[in-house]
Amino acid sequence: MTPNGEYVANSHDVGERISWTLRPVISTKLNLVVYEDGYKEDYPDTRELPAVGDTIDTSEKVVEDEKLVSKTVSRKVASIVTWEERRRVMKGACLNCHNDTYVDNFYKQFDDLVVLYNEKFAKPAKAMMDELIADGVLNQDAPFEHEVQWVYWELWHHEGRRARHGASMMGPDYTHWHGMYEVSKHYYEKFLPAVIKAAEAKSGAMGRKWQQKVDEHLSREEHQWLKGLSPEEAERLRRMYQQRYNE
Ligand code: HEC
Repeated sequence: MTPNGEYVANSHDVGERISWTLRPVISTKLNLVVYEDGYKEDYPDTRELPAVGDTIDTSEKVVEDEKLVSKTVSRKVASIVTWEERRRVMKGACLNCHNDTYVDNFYKQFDDLVVLYNEKFAKPAKAMMDELIADGVLNQDAPFEHEVQWVYWELWHHEGRRARHGASMMGPDYTHWHGMYEVSKHYYEKFLPAVIKAAEAKSGAMGRKWQQKVDEHLSREEHQWLKGLSPEEAERLRRMYQQRYNE
């Protein structure tokens, strides 16, 4: 029992209580589909859920002739565990040691960090990469041909994951200095310039099109801080630090 009188997390299947995936380019919440034979499958919340009782073609990796192949297996849906339910059960584990305000505050910070990473950096970066493929600037089958592809890969797979995992594991140094600091530094200083460079390598007209797209992107509100603070904002910030450190 916890101070709140709950005891909900009594399984050792830790994956059952995971509400976000921090693995892909863009994080999504994860629902869980459980089949009658005990097989389980994560469903990103962007994928439509089946109904209980539906028969679904699932794909399973098996070894045949020493090769890993995908096999289709028909399975009947026994139950669905939504991401909200998975989180409720995880909170049950936390509540064995912490009170609910503490745990809710943790999840508020964690969610906000993932949403910030998703909305400000990952979604626009992915949209640009997809459009560069559609424009014939990048070749989908040559994922490391251009500098921009290396930079993009590291943006989500290295610093982008460190930031998200850092937040989930309560590691401020990883969340910020090895995480979001590098995500934003590399986004502005490496990724966007490399987007333009790749487009220019295709043609002058393509380069001009992408220079304009990047300029428009940077004029969005969330990127204005790069251009500096207004005198009022700068003064407010100075006063806050004077008070905080009694300087
Ligand atoms: C077995 C008891 C226990 C459980 C279960 C537990 N914690 Fe903790 N947690 C602690 C203790 C003890 C500390 C303080 C560690 C320290 O002071 O170094 C702590 C620290 C923390 C901190 C502060 C970390 C920091 O660097 O300041 C956060 C946030 C936190 N826990 C959240 C959670 C969440 C969220 C869960 C559930 C997913 C959870 N805890 C589960 C015992 C627990």
